[in-house]
Amino acid sequence: MKYLLRTLSSLRPYWITVFGAFVSLLLVTAANLISPQVLAIVIDQGISVRNLAIVGYASLALIGLATIRGVFSFTQGYLIERASQGAAYDIRNSLFEHIAHLSFSYHDKAQTGQLMTRVTNDVEQVRTFIGNGFLQVLNAVVMLFGSITILLVMNWQLTLVALAMVPLVMIVFIAFFRIVGPHFRLIQQKLGNLNTVLQENLAGVRVVKAFAREPYEWTRYRAVNDDLLTENLFTVRGFSLAFPLIFFVANMGSLGIIWLGGRQVITDTLTIGELVAFNTYLAFLLMPIFILGGTLSSISSADASARRIFEVVDAPIEIIDKPGAKMLPAVQGRVVFDNVSFRYSGNEQASLSAISFVAEPGRNIAIMGRTGTGKSTLINLIPRFYDVTSGSVTIDGHDVRTVTLTSLRTQIGIVLQETTLFSGTIRENITYGCPPADDAAIETAARIAQAHDFITELPDGYDTIVGERGIGLSGGQRQRLAIARALLLDPPLLILDDSTSAVDVETEYKIQRALEYLREGRTSFTIAQRISTVRNADLILLLDQGRLADQGTYEDLLNRSGVFCELIAEQFADAESVTK
Ligand SMILES: Nc1ncnc2c1ncn2[C@@H]1O[C@H](COP(=O)(O)OP(=O)(O)OP(=O)(O)O)[C@@H](O)[C@H]1O
Ligand SMILES: [Mg+2]
Repeated sequence: MKYLLRTLSSLRPYWITVFGAFVSLLLVTAANLISPQVLAIVIDQGISVRNLAIVGYASLALIGLATIRGVFSFTQGYLIERASQGAAYDIRNSLFEHIAHLSFSYHDKAQTGQLMTRVTNDVEQVRTFIGNGFLQVLNAVVMLFGSITILLVMNWQLTLVALAMVPLVMIVFIAFFRIVGPHFRLIQQKLGNLNTVLQENLAGVRVVKAFAREPYEWTRYRAVNDDLLTENLFTVRGFSLAFPLIFFVANMGSLGIIWLGGRQVITDTLTIGELVAFNTYLAFLLMPIFILGGTLSSISSADASARRIFEVVDAPIEIIDKPGAKMLPAVQGRVVFDNVSFRYSGNEQASLSAISFVAEPGRNIAIMGRTGTGKSTLINLIPRFYDVTSGSVTIDGHDVRTVTLTSLRTQIGIVLQETTLFSGTIRENITYGCPPADDAAIETAARIAQAHDFITELPDGYDTIVGERGIGLSGGQRQRLAIARALLLDPPLLILDDSTSAVDVETEYKIQRALEYLREGRTSFTIAQRISTVRNADLILLLDQGRLADQGTYEDLLNRSGVFCELIAEQFADAESVTK
């Protein structure tokens, strides 16, 4: 329950609305509790003694009570809905904000489908509870104690008979929640699994089709869907079994009242009006128990959802501004790795070990090495996507962990290995890193990235809408847009991860030439496989299985590094096999 209580705090900004709903509810309950008393008066002092005036007044009173019930049921329903919608809105916002701030390490492991289920479905579950559920519970409690008090005052013997069934009903409920309760959490989890498979299939639909894996994916989807159905059916069976049982017990109670109350009426210790009123109150006694039971079931599923929401909200953001973090002043671009080691959390082996090098300002650093040797990992440490496990990364003498993330990352232009574009125009995609850019600057960046020509050939030029993740563009075109995006920032530090691998040799040559011009005055890190890219680098870092095997210029390495010669020779071998 503790998670659910925590979600109740999200109602705090709306307390006036909630209070209004609660007052309305009390008025409705009061009207409900008074009605049977009026009914008793109609029967005993009106109908039984043939007093038409009393019947008339009492009818008017009943109409008044019905009006109160109607009006305040409406205000209660409306106000609580308003408050809970507001709370859900706030929860969704804070969830999104937290997810956006969570570090790479979190997103490496998180499943998109699970996160999406939490933001949508789980929030809705919680909303239903903090809306009606919560108020219903309050209502049920007031109703229960109200009717018990009135019943006791009216006739304590009958009340004891009526209350005798309460423990029985409770036992059924408790058994129900013991058995079914845990399955509510499972339902949400299975729903998350379902969404994960769905999301992966939508995002990867092209791969699925390319490998003709539709039948496999269909089986996979059906399996998680079956799981969900099984869980849902289990809880449905629980409901279908518990409620008739409870009704049965309740009917036994009614029977007892009629039998005992009937005797009392015959022996003149109870009036008929009182018996009728009593029977009505009995319904008021049962109703809260049903409401409590019904809400309790939504409580356990809402609590499960609340827990899933807080799992995300409470997930620590690993990479945050340290207390007292300073702004990184405009940098010269001297990047120093001092004995840096790094291990991804959850991995046994370090991905980088004891890396030390100095990148002087304005130099062009190439990073080479076989696949999986830690090239991307290395450059990820500069914008602090991850924190080093030991050692330090400094820019102009500032440890990246001591400066604010925004001041650090806005000075680094980065083109990642996997290009991500957003649905929107080409212009919006290029200006993603610095929105108020003017058209001339956008065009310059696009020209340098060799993207201007293909953009102007598109039907709407820079205003052409590209689909989700840049669908509609070729891999090379996407890459060039990503380069333009990084260039527009005009960053003192530039990082390019394999960013020319998807373009043809001629375009690559042009981009390289442009980048050479662009690298002037800024420190750049380029992960590259091609000789043409690394030949002119000021410094080549040669990685081998997470270690810095060697560093130097192209000539240095050619002269002394066996690994380097092998890498180069492989490329020549490739080139020859192509030309043969
Ligand atoms: N997010 C991650 N979580 C856990 N381990 C990772 C993660 N990313 C990479 N690794 C591991 O770290 C090692 C280095 O990976 P990295 O991506 O840096 O290689 P790379 O040199 O960039 O390779 P490539 O040339 O194929 O891009 C690999 O063994 C990889 O399995
Ligand atoms: Mg890589």
